[in-house]
Formats: sequence, C-alpha cells, structure tokens
Amino acid sequence: MLDARGAVVPAVIHWGADLGALTDAQLETLADSRVRVVGPSAADTPMRLGLVPLLSDGWTGLPGLEGATLSLSAVEPVETGILVTLTGDGLSLVVELLLDAHGVLHARNRLTNTGAQPYALASLPTVLPLPPVAQERLDFTGVWAGEREPQRSGIQHGTWLRESRHGRNGHDDSYVTVAGTPGFGFRHGEVWALHLGWSGDKRTWIDRSAVGLTTIAAGELLTPGEIRLAQGDEYVSPWAYAAWSDAGLDGLSSRFHGMFRALPAHPSSSRPLTLNTWEAVYFEQDLTRLGALADLAAGVGVERFVLDDGWMTGRIDDRRALGDWTVDPARWPEGLGPLIDRVRGAGMQFGLWVEPEMVSLDSTLALEHPEWVRGGTRSWRHQFVLDLSNDAAREHVRDALLALLDAYPIDYLKWDMNRDQLGGSVHAQVSATYRLMDELRAAHPGLEIESCSSGGGRIDAGVLARTQRVWPSDTNDAHDRQSIMRWTSLLVPLEYFGAHVGSAPAHTTGRSQSLSFRLATALFGHAGIEWDLAAATPAELQSLGIWAQRYRELRGLLHSGDLVRSDDLGDPTVTGVVAADRSEAVFAIACLQSPRESVRLTRRLPGLDPALEYRVSVVDLGAAPLTHAGIPPAWVADGITLTGAVLGAVGLEPPLLMPDEAIVVKLVAVERS
Ligand code: DGJ
Repeated sequence: MLDARGAVVPAVIHWGADLGALTDAQLETLADSRVRVVGPSAADTPMRLGLVPLLSDGWTGLPGLEGATLSLSAVEPVETGILVTLTGDGLSLVVELLLDAHGVLHARNRLTNTGAQPYALASLPTVLPLPPVAQERLDFTGVWAGEREPQRSGIQHGTWLRESRHGRNGHDDSYVTVAGTPGFGFRHGEVWALHLGWSGDKRTWIDRSAVGLTTIAAGELLTPGEIRLAQGDEYVSPWAYAAWSDAGLDGLSSRFHGMFRALPAHPSSSRPLTLNTWEAVYFEQDLTRLGALADLAAGVGVERFVLDDGWMTGRIDDRRALGDWTVDPARWPEGLGPLIDRVRGAGMQFGLWVEPEMVSLDSTLALEHPEWVRGGTRSWRHQFVLDLSNDAAREHVRDALLALLDAYPIDYLKWDMNRDQLGGSVHAQVSATYRLMDELRAAHPGLEIESCSSGGGRIDAGVLARTQRVWPSDTNDAHDRQSIMRWTSLLVPLEYFGAHVGSAPAHTTGRSQSLSFRLATALFGHAGIEWDLAAATPAELQSLGIWAQRYRELRGLLHSGDLVRSDDLGDPTVTGVVAADRSEAVFAIACLQSPRESVRLTRRLPGLDPALEYRVSVVDLGAAPLTHAGIPPAWVADGITLTGAVLGAVGLEPPLLMPDEAIVVKLVAVERS
C-alpha cells in the first residue's frame, strides 16, 4: 500500500498481511496514521521514507538514489500493479511495482536522463521498509562445494551490507535476504524477503536507522562510470522480488515457487533422469568409453545423457581450448555423431557442456582475437572472460554454438561459467550473456539450458527466466547436499535443481555414504547420476534401476507440490512435498548426525490436511537404509494409517537410522467409504 498523495515521493505504508477491502475514508485514515511524528532534534516537518528514499526527503539512511531531489509526476495503474513516475534534477524515474498471483512483488526502476548534462549513475536499488517486529535477519554465504550456508543475527542500528563483486553471483551469494520476527522458522514467524534477479555484481542490505526506521534493499552494484546516461538514455534495473509470509520460510518458498512455475521458460516436460559424464570420466573422453557408459545409463533408465567438459578440440585438461567450440578430431575422429546416435538410439536425449563466456589463452580464438580477452590480469582456472559486450565476440560464439546445434540433435546445454570476472563492465557482460542465451533459445525453441557456475555460483531469477535447470553445487556428497538442497529450495522449486547420485567416496570430500542415502538425497530434485557406471557393481546398477523407476513415479508430485520442512529441532530433519490438493505427499526423514538419544526422535510431518487419513508406507528406493540393531517401528514393515492432524502434531517415530541415512515415505489419502 502506497501513500501517493501530494507531489512528494510516495511512501510504502504497508506490505504484508492482506488488510481486507478498505473504503477510501479508511485508506485516508490509514495513510494519515502512518505519517511520522516529529521527534526531538529533527527537521520541523515529518521525515519521509519514500519508495525511493532520498536525503532531500529527510532520510539519512542508505538512499535509493544519491544526490537527487524528486517529486511525484504520475501514478499509472497497469494490469497487475502500478507505475510511479518521479521527476526532478533532469531525471525521470519510473518505479514499476507488479504484484503476481502468488503474492510476489516484482519491482524495478527505469531511469531516464531528461537533462542536457550527462548523468553518472551510482546505484538504483529497490528499497522497502521493514516493520519494527522484524528483528532478526537471515541470508546466505558459502564456498565452492558448500553453497547457501545460512547465517542469522539480530538486526541492530547500522547496515548489514552484502555485496557481490565477482562478476557473477558467486558461491557466497547472499541469495535471498530475509527479515522476520525473532526465531522465525520454516513453519512459523512473520517474514519479509527480497531477492534480486541478476547474475552479476549486486548489493543487498538491511539498514536500521536510529530514527526508528529499517529498510531492506537489493540492487545492481555499479562501478564508477559504468552507467553514464547521455540525454535520453535509459537505465533499467534488474527486477527485485519481494515476498511476505506469516507462515515462516515455507510460506515464502510457496510464493517464490509459484512465481517460478508461472514463468514462460519454466520446464514444461517431465524432468528427464540425467546422467552427467563429469565425475565419471572427467577429460578422458572417447567413443568406446562413453558409448559403454551410455549403454549402462540407458540400462538403468536414464533419459538424458549429458557430455560434460572435454569434447572440444585440444581440451585435454582445464588449461586450454575454451572458445574453440569445435569437436576434437583426436578423441572424436568421427565427430559426436556416433555417440549421439547411440544415446538417441537408446531412447535418451543428448546434452552438451559449454562455457560460452570464457576463453583460454591457449586457444585459436585468443590468438585470432586477443582484443576480446578480458576479465582482469589474473587468470582463473587458466582462463579469461570473453568480452561478450563486444557484438562481434558475442556473434562469433553464438554462431559457433548455432553451428553445433544445427549439426547435431542437441536437446540441452549445460552452460558453465567458471571464474570471477574481476574487471570491465559486469553490467554489459551479464546483459550480453542473457542476450546470447535468448538468441540461442529463439533459434532452437525446444533447447533447454542448465545454469552452472563452478557448481552453484549463478542461481537467480534473472538467469532462471531463460534456463530450465541449475546446478546447485559441485559436491555430490549427499551429507552436504542435504543442507544445500534445503536452502537452495527456499527460492527455487525442486524441479529446477540438479541432484545427482555420485560414487562413493564422494570426489569432493573423500567421504563415503551408503547408496541408500545417496539415492534418497538425489530423489528430491531433478534427479541424475554422476558416476562411472562401468565401475558400479551389478547390485548397484540394479538399485539404480529401481530408484529410477521410483523417480519416474514420484516426479509429478515432487515437481508440482508444496515444499514443506519441519521445524522440529535437532536430528533427523524432515523435508516433504505435499500435493496441492493434499491428497498425497512424499517425505524424507534424514539423519545427518550421530544420535544423541538411544532412539531417533519422533518427527512431525507438516503441511498435510488435518482432516484426512493418510496411508504411510516406506518407498523402496532399491537400497535399504542402514539402521542400528534394535526393534524398528512396526510401520516400517507394515505401513500405518494416521490422520494429517496426528502426523502434523504428534508425528512418526523413525527407524533407528545410522548417521547419513534417510528413509523416504509416501503418503496417500485414504478414500472414505
Ligand atoms: C564446473 C562444473 O560445475 C562441473 O560440473 C563441470 O562441468 C566442470 N566445471 C567442467 O569443467
């Protein structure tokens, strides 16, 4: 709700709970009641925290636009929201505020220089007020193979500022900034959240001022001089996405997931079980080995075979050949045709790894176009950034990729990006990358793209407007994946994120987990396998086959239902997906720690219809979880029928699972006779 009376910058007077239908008189009274009182040692007129907070309006916290004085020119209703036009100091700023059907506010700023002088833009974030009850903050950090680690604290006077200067989101991406009532959890608490749909440098903050107001903000981070607007030029900010819930983080996820599921680019087909070749063979590619891997993959029920890094001319390691998007005649003397024929002949789709934004110095491209090589002076994974903001460079790589897509039936590109940019205009580079993805998808409308960036270094609503899968992390260690999955899914629904069964020990940690745990963990996503199946035992292959069948049976539910996570403290954790009509559900009860009690604690299964009775049964994933000696609960063998109210308020007693083990249960509402 905006107070857009008068000629001043409108103020957000409420975003949160639906206040019901209010009469004009009630709206006036509400707006009047939100005008600030004048405190001691303050300006003589009420300070205003506008939609674009300005120093000239008395706001001394972090501003929405530096150095400008703006006033309201127009408020224009559009189908799902309003456009607010502010003008002043030779600038025209249109703030777009659109509320989608899922309750997510889409906000962005369009700034035009209407004056004769050039204008250098410093920053133009989306800024929203937080109410005083929001006393606690949550956002994310992380490292390679350990992305989206949550971090929380109270909100104090001052600024909690997170910046990405990676030229990409980075492994320590703040991801979603959340503020809420103290102790908010997955199922309880009132929470306000902001996410920026941008894959480049950005700033997000929570700023609590001693004047008694708090803001939450997110916007692109610009370097000095990066955006200079001549007369008539426009800067369009990335979209920021704001959501509120009085049902904790699950309530936020429900809104964000609804938003992603409504995207035109949202994957419309069943998510094919995928095999990715990276950890199976790394750079050791040839038809004999990969043809055999494809046969084994088809045998266990894989539906998409993705040839990862190592297929390009001279790409025998990670030191060379990026930029030369031709098939290596040494390792693939007959091209990729024979492998693709084998893959497709076995009924699988074919996917190919690419890294279009990059160039190795040891490449034909760098020799021919040294002027396109940039990314600072430091090589990173022995590679540099290809200057896609140069149209000739973008067209060159686009045409090379189109030639591949024309030459071969490629259903899917795994689009990697393995370094920070460290210099140059990130704004121009990210915009050009988006354009390149759009150009490829326009030319090949059925083409799917996965967003990967050394694992989960690029996951946001900007890239997801044009991609159908994300790679949340390079780690296939199922223990670490449990946490990465739990928090990545705060924003992104399960059908987007790649979840692979790896071999044991895990390549990234050297830690071994049971096949049962690896299967259960990879089920909750867009499932796949990343394992040299030639080294798997016949029993393991059989297990994979059973698991693949279960995935096919459950993916309709997993990829459309509501994600629920229990707030029960300690171990085990509970993650479930409940069908929209609550007629069925699937839950994983996962133990990540050694038990602190002699039995595993009773766990509640949230989100069910309290009035319905559910038949609960264990899902056979092809490998039984490891348990301690003792007597397991009878329901594990026999199943059990309980109401949603009982399951939600009392819960189930888990079997005596060992650490790093999980049990998956299916719940089906029982028909009443
Ligand atoms: C990093 C990715 O995250 C991996 O999955 C793999 O594709 C390698 N790059 C290949 O170089």
